[in-house]
Amino acid sequence: MLVTLRNIVFLMVISLLATGCSEQVSFENDVMPILSANCLSCHGDNGEGFNKSGFSVKDYDSVMIGTKFGTVIVPGDSASSTLYRLVAHLTDPKIQMPPHHEDALAVGRGVELTPEQIETIRKWIDQGAKKE
Ligand code: HEC
Repeated sequence: MLVTLRNIVFLMVISLLATGCSEQVSFENDVMPILSANCLSCHGDNGEGFNKSGFSVKDYDSVMIGTKFGTVIVPGDSASSTLYRLVAHLTDPKIQMPPHHEDALAVGRGVELTPEQIETIRKWIDQGAKKE
């Protein structure tokens, strides 16, 4: 018998993993709620973060425009995306977002994102940072 129970279980695990990985992240349903709850107070009209950097998270287009110096999202490449690097603790603690270190540059204080929220943002960028 070529098809053993062990092979079947193995294939089931692989297909489960594959669907888990290919699950499409939605900007409106998954990413925007994270940005609204954790970033908008500073990165909305007249917020501290918006005034200093020009970065607004009020909608998809503003997120894609980035700061006054340029984009913070590289579609398909989270590792090169400033926004991901800032929330995933891949930068100097002083500039991590939301600011949650005692030595953070920003005056206000936010709570760091949960690993699940960081993962949602990573997937969204790696899946092409689409609007839907
Ligand atoms: C307590 C206020 C505050 C919160 C909350 C906050 N930010 Fe910021 N953010 C700032 C400030 C202030 C700056 C400007 C930093 C500076 O240059 O001094 C900034 C800058 C940035 C920049 C530009 C960095 C650069 O390289 O120019 C990005 C991108 C950013 N924030 C993303 C986020 C994201 C994403 C969130 C939510 C997960 C967030 N911020 C939450 C205050 C905040």
